[in-house]
Amino acid sequence: METYIAALDQGTTSSRAILFNRAGEIVARAQYPFRQIYPQPGWVEHDPMEIWATEKRALAEAVDAAHIDPKQIAAIGITNQRETTILWDRTTGQPVHNAIVWQCRRTAAICDQLKADGLGDTVTDKTGLLIDAYFSGTKVKWLLDNVPGLRERAERGELCAGTVDAWLIWNLTGGQVHVTDYSNASRTMLFNIHTLQWDDDLCRALGIPLRLLPQPRPNSEAYGCIAADIPGLEALAGIPICGSAGDQPAALFGQACFAPGQAKNTYGTGCFTLMNVGREPVRSKAGLVTSVGWSVGGQVTYALEGSVFNAGSTIQWLRDELGLISSAPECDRLAESVPDAGGVCVVPAFTGLGAPYWDMYARGTIVGLTRGTTKAHIARAVLDAIAFQVTDLVRAMNADAPCPLTTLRVDGGASVSDILMQTQADLLRLPVDRPAQVETTAFGAAALAGLAAGVWGSLDELGTLRRSQCLFQPQRDEAACAADYARWCRAVERSRAWIENEL
Ligand SMILES: Nc1ncnc2c1ncn2[C@@H]1O[C@H](COP(=O)(O)OP(=O)(O)OP(=O)(O)O)[C@@H](O)[C@H]1O
Ligand SMILES: [Mg+2]
Repeated sequence: METYIAALDQGTTSSRAILFNRAGEIVARAQYPFRQIYPQPGWVEHDPMEIWATEKRALAEAVDAAHIDPKQIAAIGITNQRETTILWDRTTGQPVHNAIVWQCRRTAAICDQLKADGLGDTVTDKTGLLIDAYFSGTKVKWLLDNVPGLRERAERGELCAGTVDAWLIWNLTGGQVHVTDYSNASRTMLFNIHTLQWDDDLCRALGIPLRLLPQPRPNSEAYGCIAADIPGLEALAGIPICGSAGDQPAALFGQACFAPGQAKNTYGTGCFTLMNVGREPVRSKAGLVTSVGWSVGGQVTYALEGSVFNAGSTIQWLRDELGLISSAPECDRLAESVPDAGGVCVVPAFTGLGAPYWDMYARGTIVGLTRGTTKAHIARAVLDAIAFQVTDLVRAMNADAPCPLTTLRVDGGASVSDILMQTQADLLRLPVDRPAQVETTAFGAAALAGLAAGVWGSLDELGTLRRSQCLFQPQRDEAACAADYARWCRAVERSRAWIENEL
Protein backbone atom coordinates (compact mmCIF):
# COMPACT_ATOMS: atom_id res chain seq x y z
CA MET A 1 0.00 0.00 0.00
CA GLU A 2 1.43 3.41 -1.03
CA THR A 3 2.34 5.81 1.76
CA TYR A 4 1.63 9.54 1.57
CA ILE A 5 2.76 12.67 3.36
CA ALA A 6 0.48 15.69 3.70
CA ALA A 7 1.98 19.17 3.69
CA LEU A 8 0.09 22.19 4.94
CA ASP A 9 1.45 25.33 3.26
CA GLN A 10 -0.14 28.25 5.06
CA GLY A 11 0.91 31.22 2.94
CA THR A 12 0.34 34.96 2.99
CA THR A 13 -2.41 34.92 0.42
CA SER A 14 -3.74 31.36 0.54
CA SER A 15 -3.84 28.17 2.56
CA ARG A 16 -2.72 25.09 0.64
CA ALA A 17 -2.65 21.39 1.38
CA ILE A 18 -0.65 19.06 -0.84
CA LEU A 19 -0.36 15.27 -0.69
CA PHE A 20 2.97 13.82 -1.84
CA ASN A 21 3.87 10.22 -2.55
CA ARG A 22 7.24 8.63 -1.77
CA ALA A 23 8.60 9.72 -5.15
CA GLY A 24 7.96 13.33 -4.11
CA GLU A 25 5.16 13.67 -6.67
CA ILE A 26 1.98 15.64 -6.01
CA VAL A 27 -0.99 13.29 -5.71
CA ALA A 28 -3.65 15.81 -4.76
CA ARG A 29 -3.94 19.41 -3.68
CA ALA A 30 -6.41 22.03 -2.56
CA GLN A 31 -6.03 25.73 -2.00
CA TYR A 32 -8.17 28.48 -0.51
CA PRO A 33 -7.40 32.19 -0.55
CA PHE A 34 -8.36 34.33 2.41
CA ARG A 35 -8.86 38.01 3.18
CA GLN A 36 -6.08 40.55 3.37
CA ILE A 37 -7.09 43.21 5.87
CA TYR A 38 -5.54 46.69 5.52
CA PRO A 39 -6.78 48.76 8.51
CA GLN A 40 -4.62 51.74 7.51
CA PRO A 41 -1.78 52.48 5.08
CA GLY A 42 1.21 50.23 5.78
CA TRP A 43 -0.76 47.96 8.14
CA VAL A 44 -1.66 44.35 7.23
CA GLU A 45 -3.76 41.84 9.18
CA HIS A 46 -5.28 38.37 8.74
CA ASP A 47 -8.14 36.74 10.65
CA PRO A 48 -6.55 33.77 12.50
CA MET A 49 -9.84 31.82 12.40
CA GLU A 50 -9.93 32.24 8.64
CA ILE A 51 -6.35 30.98 8.42
CA TRP A 52 -7.32 27.89 10.42
CA ALA A 53 -10.63 27.33 8.59
CA THR A 54 -9.11 27.59 5.10
CA GLU A 55 -6.15 25.38 6.00
CA LYS A 56 -8.42 22.76 7.56
CA ARG A 57 -10.74 22.80 4.55
CA ALA A 58 -7.77 22.51 2.16
CA LEU A 59 -6.44 19.48 4.04
CA ALA A 60 -9.80 17.68 4.11
CA GLU A 61 -10.38 18.43 0.43
CA ALA A 62 -6.91 17.28 -0.70
CA VAL A 63 -7.37 13.99 1.15
CA ASP A 64 -10.81 13.51 -0.44
CA ALA A 65 -9.46 14.29 -3.90
CA ALA A 66 -6.68 11.71 -3.52
CA HIS A 67 -9.23 8.89 -2.96
CA ILE A 68 -7.01 7.22 -0.40
CA ASP A 69 -7.54 5.74 3.01
CA PRO A 70 -6.45 8.47 5.47
CA LYS A 71 -4.51 5.75 7.29
CA GLN A 72 -2.08 5.80 4.37
CA ILE A 73 -0.95 9.28 5.45
CA ALA A 74 2.18 8.61 7.47
CA ALA A 75 2.67 12.14 8.70
CA ILE A 76 1.79 15.80 8.32
CA GLY A 77 4.33 18.55 7.77
CA ILE A 78 3.65 22.23 8.29
CA THR A 79 5.09 25.27 6.59
CA ASN A 80 3.88 28.81 6.95
CA GLN A 81 4.18 32.51 6.28
CA ARG A 82 6.75 33.49 8.88
CA GLU A 83 6.79 36.33 11.47
CA THR A 84 3.00 36.80 11.30
CA THR A 85 1.96 36.95 14.94
CA ILE A 86 -1.14 35.64 16.72
CA LEU A 87 -2.21 35.88 20.35
CA TRP A 88 -4.99 33.65 21.63
CA ASP A 89 -6.77 32.64 24.81
CA ARG A 90 -5.26 29.48 26.27
CA THR A 91 -8.62 28.23 27.55
CA THR A 92 -11.05 29.07 24.75
CA GLY A 93 -8.58 28.99 21.84
CA GLN A 94 -10.08 32.26 20.60
CA PRO A 95 -7.71 34.84 19.09
CA VAL A 96 -7.66 38.09 21.04
CA HIS A 97 -6.89 40.21 17.95
CA ASN A 98 -6.32 39.76 14.23
CA ALA A 99 -2.95 38.34 13.23
CA ILE A 100 -0.36 41.06 12.59
CA VAL A 101 1.15 40.10 9.25
CA TRP A 102 4.89 40.08 8.50
CA GLN A 103 4.49 42.95 6.02
CA CYS A 104 2.82 45.20 8.59
CA ARG A 105 4.78 48.35 9.47
CA ARG A 106 2.83 49.42 12.58
CA THR A 107 5.75 48.75 14.92
CA ALA A 108 8.23 51.00 13.11
CA ALA A 109 8.26 53.48 16.01
CA ILE A 110 8.91 50.69 18.53
CA CYS A 111 11.86 49.62 16.37
CA ASP A 112 13.20 53.17 16.25
CA GLN A 113 13.07 53.28 20.05
CA LEU A 114 14.91 49.94 20.39
CA LYS A 115 17.59 51.23 18.02
CA ALA A 116 17.86 54.47 19.99
CA ASP A 117 18.23 52.39 23.16
CA GLY A 118 21.32 50.84 21.55
CA LEU A 119 19.91 47.33 21.22
CA GLY A 120 20.96 46.78 17.59
CA ASP A 121 24.20 44.88 18.23
CA THR A 122 22.65 42.72 20.95
CA VAL A 123 19.82 41.74 18.63
CA THR A 124 22.22 40.82 15.83
CA ASP A 125 24.62 38.94 18.13
CA LYS A 126 21.90 36.86 19.72
CA THR A 127 19.24 36.45 17.07
CA GLY A 128 21.08 36.86 13.75
CA LEU A 129 18.50 39.50 12.78
CA LEU A 130 18.44 43.26 12.76
CA ILE A 131 15.80 45.48 14.30
CA ASP A 132 12.87 45.83 11.91
CA ALA A 133 9.08 45.83 12.13
CA TYR A 134 9.19 42.69 9.94
CA PHE A 135 10.02 40.37 12.84
CA SER A 136 7.50 39.07 15.38
CA GLY A 137 8.84 40.43 18.69
CA THR A 138 7.68 44.01 18.28
CA LYS A 139 4.32 42.78 16.96
CA VAL A 140 3.74 40.90 20.24
CA LYS A 141 4.80 43.99 22.16
CA TRP A 142 2.42 46.17 20.16
CA LEU A 143 -0.51 43.89 20.99
CA LEU A 144 0.35 43.81 24.70
CA ASP A 145 0.76 47.60 24.74
CA ASN A 146 -2.28 48.51 22.68
CA VAL A 147 -5.09 46.03 23.29
CA PRO A 148 -6.70 46.84 26.66
CA GLY A 149 -6.20 44.17 29.32
CA LEU A 150 -3.86 41.97 27.28
CA ARG A 151 -0.69 42.60 29.26
CA GLU A 152 -2.39 41.61 32.53
CA ARG A 153 -3.86 38.50 30.92
CA ALA A 154 -0.48 37.58 29.45
CA GLU A 155 1.20 37.96 32.84
CA ARG A 156 -1.45 35.75 34.45
CA GLY A 157 -0.61 33.04 31.89
CA GLU A 158 -4.02 33.17 30.23
CA LEU A 159 -2.71 33.74 26.71
CA CYS A 160 -0.61 31.94 24.11
CA ALA A 161 1.48 33.72 21.49
CA GLY A 162 2.83 32.15 18.36
CA THR A 163 3.61 32.39 14.71
CA VAL A 164 1.33 30.55 12.27
CA ASP A 165 3.11 27.18 12.75
CA ALA A 166 2.32 27.32 16.48
CA TRP A 167 -1.27 28.38 15.79
CA LEU A 168 -1.85 25.48 13.39
CA ILE A 169 -0.20 22.86 15.61
CA TRP A 170 -2.23 24.13 18.57
CA ASN A 171 -5.46 23.82 16.62
CA LEU A 172 -4.63 20.48 14.98
CA THR A 173 -3.86 18.95 18.37
CA GLY A 174 -7.07 20.29 19.90
CA GLY A 175 -5.23 22.82 22.07
CA GLN A 176 -2.89 20.21 23.56
CA VAL A 177 0.46 21.33 22.17
CA HIS A 178 1.99 24.83 22.21
CA VAL A 179 5.27 24.55 20.29
CA THR A 180 7.11 26.37 17.51
CA ASP A 181 9.99 25.12 15.40
CA TYR A 182 13.49 26.64 15.50
CA SER A 183 13.21 28.20 12.05
CA ASN A 184 10.03 30.09 12.94
CA ALA A 185 11.40 30.98 16.39
CA SER A 186 14.44 32.46 14.63
CA ARG A 187 12.23 35.15 13.10
CA THR A 188 10.86 36.58 16.33
CA MET A 189 13.85 38.69 17.47
CA LEU A 190 13.39 36.90 20.82
CA PHE A 191 15.23 33.63 20.07
CA ASN A 192 18.92 33.02 20.62
CA ILE A 193 20.07 31.12 17.53
CA HIS A 194 23.24 29.91 19.28
CA THR A 195 21.63 28.40 22.38
CA LEU A 196 18.31 27.59 20.63
CA GLN A 197 16.30 29.12 23.48
CA TRP A 198 14.19 32.21 24.09
CA ASP A 199 16.43 35.02 25.21
CA ASP A 200 15.58 36.39 28.67
CA ASP A 201 17.22 39.77 28.05
CA LEU A 202 15.40 40.43 24.78
CA CYS A 203 12.06 39.25 26.18
CA ARG A 204 12.58 41.63 29.10
CA ALA A 205 13.59 44.51 26.83
CA LEU A 206 10.34 44.05 24.90
CA GLY A 207 8.24 43.36 28.00
CA ILE A 208 7.16 39.91 26.79
CA PRO A 209 6.49 37.32 29.52
CA LEU A 210 8.23 34.01 28.73
CA ARG A 211 5.13 32.03 29.66
CA LEU A 212 3.37 33.53 26.64
CA LEU A 213 5.76 31.85 24.21
CA PRO A 214 5.61 28.36 22.69
CA GLN A 215 8.27 25.76 23.35
CA PRO A 216 10.94 25.85 20.59
CA ARG A 217 11.51 22.46 18.94
CA PRO A 218 13.65 20.93 16.13
CA ASN A 219 12.15 20.78 12.65
CA SER A 220 11.77 17.07 12.09
CA GLU A 221 10.15 15.22 14.97
CA ALA A 222 6.67 14.31 16.24
CA TYR A 223 5.01 17.26 17.99
CA GLY A 224 1.61 15.65 18.52
CA CYS A 225 -1.28 14.05 16.65
CA ILE A 226 -4.46 15.36 15.07
CA ALA A 227 -7.08 15.42 17.82
CA ALA A 228 -10.17 13.21 17.64
CA ASP A 229 -12.88 15.83 17.68
CA ILE A 230 -11.94 18.44 15.10
CA PRO A 231 -14.96 19.23 12.91
CA GLY A 232 -14.12 18.37 9.31
CA LEU A 233 -10.98 16.40 10.19
CA GLU A 234 -12.59 13.44 12.01
CA ALA A 235 -11.20 10.94 9.49
CA LEU A 236 -7.67 12.20 10.05
CA ALA A 237 -7.60 11.84 13.85
CA GLY A 238 -4.38 10.35 15.15
CA ILE A 239 -2.12 11.27 12.21
CA PRO A 240 1.15 12.60 13.66
CA ILE A 241 2.49 16.08 12.90
CA CYS A 242 6.17 15.32 12.35
CA GLY A 243 7.76 18.37 10.76
CA SER A 244 7.55 22.13 10.63
CA ALA A 245 9.54 24.97 9.11
CA GLY A 246 8.85 28.49 7.93
CA ASP A 247 8.09 28.74 4.23
CA GLN A 248 11.54 29.97 3.19
CA PRO A 249 13.73 27.44 5.01
CA ALA A 250 11.21 24.78 3.94
CA ALA A 251 11.81 25.80 0.31
CA LEU A 252 15.60 25.70 0.84
CA PHE A 253 15.14 22.15 2.20
CA GLY A 254 12.67 21.24 -0.55
CA GLN A 255 15.21 22.44 -3.16
CA ALA A 256 17.68 19.96 -1.64
CA CYS A 257 20.15 22.74 -0.78
CA PHE A 258 21.73 20.46 1.80
CA ALA A 259 25.35 21.49 1.17
CA PRO A 260 26.88 24.78 2.39
CA GLY A 261 26.99 27.33 -0.44
CA GLN A 262 23.81 26.11 -2.15
CA ALA A 263 21.08 28.74 -2.47
CA LYS A 264 17.56 29.30 -3.74
CA ASN A 265 15.25 32.21 -4.40
CA THR A 266 11.49 31.97 -4.02
CA TYR A 267 9.40 34.33 -6.17
CA GLY A 268 6.17 34.57 -4.21
CA THR A 269 4.36 37.48 -2.61
CA GLY A 270 7.86 38.63 -1.66
CA CYS A 271 11.25 37.31 -2.77
CA PHE A 272 13.49 35.37 -0.43
CA THR A 273 17.02 34.31 -1.21
CA LEU A 274 18.46 31.80 1.26
CA MET A 275 21.87 30.17 1.30
CA ASN A 276 22.83 27.15 3.36
CA VAL A 277 25.88 28.34 5.35
CA GLY A 278 26.40 25.14 7.34
CA ARG A 279 26.78 24.52 11.04
CA GLU A 280 27.78 28.05 12.14
CA PRO A 281 25.82 31.27 11.68
CA VAL A 282 27.39 33.93 9.43
CA ARG A 283 27.32 37.51 10.66
CA SER A 284 26.32 39.66 7.70
CA LYS A 285 28.02 42.91 6.84
CA ALA A 286 25.84 43.51 3.81
CA GLY A 287 22.36 43.81 5.31
CA LEU A 288 21.36 40.13 5.35
CA VAL A 289 20.17 38.11 8.34
CA THR A 290 20.97 34.65 9.66
CA SER A 291 18.40 32.19 10.95
CA VAL A 292 18.21 28.55 11.82
CA GLY A 293 17.39 26.85 8.52
CA TRP A 294 16.56 23.57 10.19
CA SER A 295 17.62 21.19 12.89
CA VAL A 296 17.40 17.61 11.71
CA GLY A 297 18.81 14.55 13.48
CA GLY A 298 20.37 16.72 16.18
CA GLN A 299 22.33 18.87 13.71
CA VAL A 300 21.58 22.54 13.14
CA THR A 301 21.97 24.09 9.68
CA TYR A 302 22.02 27.88 9.46
CA ALA A 303 20.78 29.95 6.53
CA LEU A 304 21.86 33.38 5.37
CA GLU A 305 18.88 35.26 4.02
CA GLY A 306 17.86 38.31 2.12
CA SER A 307 14.17 39.20 1.95
CA VAL A 308 12.28 41.53 -0.32
CA PHE A 309 8.78 42.39 0.87
CA ASN A 310 7.02 42.95 -2.45
CA ALA A 311 7.65 40.93 -5.59
CA GLY A 312 4.76 38.82 -6.96
CA SER A 313 2.50 41.12 -4.97
CA THR A 314 3.44 43.83 -7.48
CA ILE A 315 1.90 41.74 -10.25
CA GLN A 316 -1.21 41.37 -8.11
CA TRP A 317 -1.21 45.16 -7.64
CA LEU A 318 -1.18 45.62 -11.43
CA ARG A 319 -4.17 43.31 -11.56
CA ASP A 320 -6.21 44.26 -8.50
CA GLU A 321 -5.47 47.93 -7.83
CA LEU A 322 -4.43 49.32 -11.23
CA GLY A 323 -6.54 46.96 -13.35
CA LEU A 324 -3.85 46.90 -16.08
CA ILE A 325 -4.05 43.11 -16.41
CA SER A 326 -6.68 40.53 -15.62
CA SER A 327 -4.32 37.70 -14.61
CA ALA A 328 -0.67 37.13 -13.67
CA PRO A 329 0.19 35.29 -16.93
CA GLU A 330 -1.11 38.34 -18.82
CA CYS A 331 1.69 40.36 -17.21
CA ASP A 332 4.20 38.06 -18.95
CA ARG A 333 2.49 38.41 -22.33
CA LEU A 334 2.36 42.19 -22.05
CA ALA A 335 6.00 42.35 -20.96
CA GLU A 336 7.05 40.13 -23.86
CA SER A 337 5.32 42.49 -26.32
CA VAL A 338 8.01 45.17 -25.83
CA PRO A 339 11.80 44.78 -26.17
CA ASP A 340 12.44 46.45 -22.81
CA ALA A 341 10.82 48.71 -20.19
CA GLY A 342 11.48 51.82 -22.29
CA GLY A 343 13.48 53.45 -19.51
CA VAL A 344 10.73 52.97 -16.88
CA CYS A 345 11.75 51.80 -13.40
CA VAL A 346 9.21 50.61 -10.81
CA VAL A 347 10.35 50.36 -7.18
CA PRO A 348 7.65 48.35 -5.37
CA ALA A 349 8.47 49.63 -1.87
CA PHE A 350 4.78 49.40 -0.85
CA THR A 351 5.66 48.40 2.71
CA GLY A 352 9.15 49.88 2.84
CA LEU A 353 12.32 48.21 1.63
CA GLY A 354 13.76 45.02 3.11
CA ALA A 355 17.25 43.67 2.51
CA PRO A 356 19.76 45.09 1.91
CA TYR A 357 18.28 48.60 2.46
CA TRP A 358 16.05 48.10 5.53
CA ASP A 359 14.12 51.32 5.10
CA MET A 360 10.75 51.17 6.86
CA TYR A 361 9.91 54.63 5.50
CA ALA A 362 10.52 54.01 1.79
CA ARG A 363 7.43 53.89 -0.44
CA GLY A 364 6.83 52.75 -3.99
CA THR A 365 7.73 54.87 -6.99
CA ILE A 366 7.67 54.79 -10.79
CA VAL A 367 10.31 56.87 -12.54
CA GLY A 368 11.28 57.36 -16.17
CA LEU A 369 7.75 57.86 -17.56
CA THR A 370 7.46 59.48 -20.98
CA ARG A 371 4.42 60.29 -23.13
CA GLY A 372 5.15 57.07 -25.00
CA THR A 373 5.07 54.82 -21.94
CA THR A 374 2.48 52.04 -22.32
CA LYS A 375 1.09 49.52 -19.89
CA ALA A 376 3.37 46.97 -21.55
CA HIS A 377 6.38 49.01 -20.41
CA ILE A 378 4.96 49.13 -16.89
CA ALA A 379 4.41 45.36 -16.90
CA ARG A 380 7.96 44.83 -18.12
CA ALA A 381 9.30 47.23 -15.48
CA VAL A 382 7.42 45.30 -12.78
CA LEU A 383 9.06 42.02 -13.81
CA ASP A 384 12.41 43.82 -14.05
CA ALA A 385 11.90 45.19 -10.54
CA ILE A 386 11.47 41.69 -9.18
CA ALA A 387 14.71 40.57 -10.85
CA PHE A 388 16.57 43.74 -9.74
CA GLN A 389 15.56 43.16 -6.13
CA VAL A 390 16.86 39.59 -6.25
CA THR A 391 20.06 40.88 -7.83
CA ASP A 392 20.46 43.20 -4.82
CA LEU A 393 20.09 40.17 -2.55
CA VAL A 394 22.54 37.97 -4.44
CA ARG A 395 25.13 40.75 -4.55
CA ALA A 396 24.82 41.13 -0.78
CA MET A 397 25.07 37.38 -0.36
CA ASN A 398 28.23 37.19 -2.43
CA ALA A 399 29.74 39.90 -0.21
CA ASP A 400 28.99 37.89 2.96
CA ALA A 401 29.26 34.24 2.00
CA PRO A 402 32.54 32.34 2.17
CA CYS A 403 32.29 31.55 -1.56
CA PRO A 404 30.24 33.18 -4.34
CA LEU A 405 27.07 31.65 -5.65
CA THR A 406 27.43 29.49 -8.78
CA THR A 407 23.77 28.70 -9.57
CA LEU A 408 20.48 30.07 -8.28
CA ARG A 409 17.73 27.49 -7.73
CA VAL A 410 14.31 29.09 -8.10
CA ASP A 411 10.71 28.38 -7.15
CA GLY A 412 7.46 30.11 -6.13
CA GLY A 413 4.47 31.33 -8.13
CA ALA A 414 6.28 33.86 -10.32
CA SER A 415 9.14 31.45 -11.17
CA VAL A 416 6.87 30.03 -13.90
CA SER A 417 7.54 33.24 -15.84
CA ASP A 418 10.20 32.50 -18.48
CA ILE A 419 10.81 36.16 -19.20
CA LEU A 420 11.40 36.88 -15.52
CA MET A 421 13.79 33.93 -15.16
CA GLN A 422 15.72 34.97 -18.28
CA THR A 423 16.00 38.56 -16.99
CA GLN A 424 17.26 37.16 -13.71
CA ALA A 425 19.97 35.05 -15.36
CA ASP A 426 21.03 38.06 -17.44
CA LEU A 427 21.30 40.38 -14.44
CA LEU A 428 23.07 37.86 -12.21
CA ARG A 429 25.36 36.49 -14.97
CA LEU A 430 24.58 33.09 -13.43
CA PRO A 431 22.56 30.04 -14.48
CA VAL A 432 19.06 29.99 -13.00
CA ASP A 433 17.83 26.46 -12.30
CA ARG A 434 14.05 25.90 -12.21
CA PRO A 435 12.98 22.48 -10.93
CA ALA A 436 10.20 20.36 -12.41
CA GLN A 437 8.42 20.62 -9.08
CA VAL A 438 8.09 24.30 -8.07
CA GLU A 439 6.00 23.51 -4.96
CA THR A 440 9.25 23.25 -3.04
CA THR A 441 7.89 24.99 0.07
CA ALA A 442 5.25 22.32 0.60
CA PHE A 443 7.64 19.57 -0.43
CA GLY A 444 10.20 20.81 2.12
CA ALA A 445 7.60 20.48 4.88
CA ALA A 446 6.65 17.02 3.63
CA ALA A 447 10.32 16.03 3.50
CA LEU A 448 10.95 17.16 7.10
CA ALA A 449 7.89 15.22 8.28
CA GLY A 450 8.66 12.19 6.12
CA LEU A 451 12.21 11.97 7.47
CA ALA A 452 10.92 11.86 11.05
CA ALA A 453 8.25 9.31 10.12
CA GLY A 454 10.75 7.04 8.35
CA VAL A 455 9.20 7.50 4.88
CA TRP A 456 12.57 8.72 3.63
CA GLY A 457 15.81 7.50 5.17
CA SER A 458 18.29 10.29 4.56
CA LEU A 459 19.01 13.69 3.03
CA ASP A 460 20.81 11.89 0.18
CA GLU A 461 17.67 9.98 -0.64
CA LEU A 462 15.63 13.21 -0.62
CA GLY A 463 18.22 14.87 -2.86
CA THR A 464 17.62 12.31 -5.61
CA LEU A 465 13.98 13.42 -5.85
CA ARG A 466 14.81 16.90 -7.22
CA ARG A 467 14.72 17.27 -11.03
CA SER A 468 15.75 20.32 -12.98
CA GLN A 469 13.15 21.44 -15.55
CA CYS A 470 14.92 24.39 -17.18
CA LEU A 471 18.33 26.03 -16.87
CA PHE A 472 18.29 29.71 -17.92
CA GLN A 473 21.75 30.93 -19.02
CA PRO A 474 22.80 34.59 -19.27
CA GLN A 475 22.21 35.82 -22.84
CA ARG A 476 21.80 39.58 -22.94
CA ASP A 477 24.80 41.86 -23.34
CA GLU A 478 26.57 42.32 -20.01
CA ALA A 479 27.15 46.07 -20.37
CA ALA A 480 23.47 46.69 -21.12
CA CYS A 481 22.51 44.72 -18.02
CA ALA A 482 24.96 46.72 -15.90
CA ALA A 483 23.45 49.98 -17.20
CA ASP A 484 19.94 48.76 -16.32
CA TYR A 485 21.09 47.83 -12.84
CA ALA A 486 22.68 51.25 -12.32
CA ARG A 487 19.37 52.87 -13.30
CA TRP A 488 17.57 50.66 -10.76
CA CYS A 489 19.95 51.80 -8.01
CA ARG A 490 19.12 55.43 -8.80
CA ALA A 491 15.40 54.69 -8.74
CA VAL A 492 15.73 53.00 -5.34
CA GLU A 493 17.35 56.14 -3.92
CA ARG A 494 14.27 58.12 -4.96
CA SER A 495 11.92 55.81 -3.07
CA ARG A 496 13.81 56.02 0.21
CA ALA A 497 12.82 57.83 3.42
CA TRP A 498 9.64 59.00 1.71
CA ILE A 499 7.35 59.11 4.74
CA GLU A 500 9.89 59.81 7.46
CA ASN A 501 8.16 59.65 10.85
CA GLU A 502 4.66 59.46 9.43
CA LEU A 503 3.92 55.94 10.68
N1 LIG B 1 2.35 33.27 -14.66
C1 LIG B 1 2.82 34.08 -13.74
N2 LIG B 1 3.72 35.01 -14.07
C2 LIG B 1 4.20 35.84 -13.15
N3 LIG B 1 3.86 35.79 -11.85
C3 LIG B 1 2.98 34.89 -11.45
C4 LIG B 1 2.42 33.98 -12.36
N4 LIG B 1 1.57 33.19 -11.67
C5 LIG B 1 1.62 33.62 -10.38
N5 LIG B 1 2.46 34.64 -10.25
C6 LIG B 1 2.77 35.39 -9.03
O1 LIG B 1 3.13 34.48 -8.03
C7 LIG B 1 2.72 34.96 -6.75
C8 LIG B 1 2.19 33.83 -5.95
O2 LIG B 1 3.22 32.93 -5.75
P1 LIG B 1 3.19 31.94 -4.53
O3 LIG B 1 1.91 31.23 -4.51
O4 LIG B 1 4.47 31.19 -4.56
O5 LIG B 1 3.20 33.06 -3.44
P2 LIG B 1 3.45 32.96 -1.94
O6 LIG B 1 4.21 34.15 -1.47
O7 LIG B 1 3.95 31.62 -1.55
O8 LIG B 1 2.04 33.17 -1.49
P3 LIG B 1 1.61 32.67 -0.19
O9 LIG B 1 2.47 33.41 0.80
O10 LIG B 1 0.17 32.99 -0.13
O11 LIG B 1 1.93 31.20 -0.22
C9 LIG B 1 1.65 35.97 -6.99
O12 LIG B 1 2.05 37.18 -6.35
C10 LIG B 1 1.58 36.12 -8.49
O13 LIG B 1 1.66 37.47 -8.83
MG1 LIG C 1 4.19 30.39 -0.17
